[in-house]
Amino acid sequence: MAVSRKTFLRILGGGIVVAAGAAIAVPRLDAMPAAAVEGWRGPGPDEADPRRRALAWALLAPNPHNLQSWAVDLSQPDTIVLHVDAARLLPQTDSFSRQILIGHGCFLEILAMAAAADGYRAEVTLFPEGEWRLDKPVARVVFTRQPGLAVDPLFAEVPRRRTVKGKFEARPLDPAHKTAFLAGHALPTLPLAIADDAESVERLRALAVAGSEMEMNTHRTHKESIDVARIGAAEIAAHRDGISLKGPMIWALRQAGQMTPEKAMTPGTLAWNGGRDYAMAGYASARAFGWIASADNTRETQIATGRAFVRLQLAARALGVALQPHSQTLQEYPEMAELRAAMHRQTGTPAGAMLQMFFRLGYAGDPGPSPRRALPSFVTV
Ligand SMILES: Cc1cc2nc3c(=O)[nH]c(=O)nc-3n(C[C@H](O)[C@H](O)[C@H](O)COP(=O)(O)O)c2cc1C
Repeated sequence: MAVSRKTFLRILGGGIVVAAGAAIAVPRLDAMPAAAVEGWRGPGPDEADPRRRALAWALLAPNPHNLQSWAVDLSQPDTIVLHVDAARLLPQTDSFSRQILIGHGCFLEILAMAAAADGYRAEVTLFPEGEWRLDKPVARVVFTRQPGLAVDPLFAEVPRRRTVKGKFEARPLDPAHKTAFLAGHALPTLPLAIADDAESVERLRALAVAGSEMEMNTHRTHKESIDVARIGAAEIAAHRDGISLKGPMIWALRQAGQMTPEKAMTPGTLAWNGGRDYAMAGYASARAFGWIASADNTRETQIATGRAFVRLQLAARALGVALQPHSQTLQEYPEMAELRAAMHRQTGTPAGAMLQMFFRLGYAGDPGPSPRRALPSFVTV
């Protein structure tokens, strides 16, 4: 069955799929499978191990392409040894695993918050076996009982935090929210900047759009995303990771043979155009951009960036602000070099410094949680 662009839009219009001339209401077609998001309820009531209780929250951290590249060794008492899962990397778009390490920083921040909320001090030693490589740990975390620790107010936002990938509402960032972000961040070594004036936003938007197009038009970098796209509820349920493509529109395109990895790799198909249009609608709706830059690019700095970034995203949730990172134009592969340099210039990131995170800010409804694998799949020993 051929699906025309008009049909595609009617599907988008809300829960009605037009198939072979007959309209059927399909409100739940290809919805997020409940098991894939059960982790958002946190640890089970019977979980006695404080490390596992904290890990149940930490695995809700934001992370690149939702690969969840965390592997934990629990073989030593009261200790978590955190590794990067070598099977879950992005070698084309993140060849130095900079973003993966930022995701580990997000994980460690939530882990420490969760431990404190449970009455444990989590003492984090980064790179305990020296300079990070895939066969060496990112961190050793030792849990010590310490009742009465202050509970970080942002911890309550952990189950509600979202990366909002869709269109934002057409209203500017509230100046009070901008002030709250800047005041709450207060990390002189990892300065946060927010641009919300029309001219800067337009220039940054143009760079973000160009970076996304570059990634989509570079076969191997686009393929890296398509390889982890989970198309439809069954694939999402089977993997519980990656980029979730779901909902009635995806269902209808799948039935029509129009939503396959091959189609998504082929410019001009509905799958390709739909993906591009979705991303572009997001950029078009951005009314503010923020970024975190650093003077150096050490592994410690990448972890610190992740810790700061997740706090910002939790604070955004508390304020009712939507946030979506945009990483394409920050990436270190050769085809992106020119745009990346332009992005550094536009954000005032000096030569030698590093733009670590860049994101759009605005307002949008709750898109719902993204999948997470079950805790046992992260535990190696
Ligand atoms: C270092 C890093 C880079 C990211 N880059 C992007 C990005 O370019 N585009 C995007 O939509 N999300 C990006 N994300 C967000 C992830 O896609 C998101 O965390 C993941 O899909 C899980 O969804 P959740 O945050 O709603 O739980 C990034 C996250 C991190 C930590």
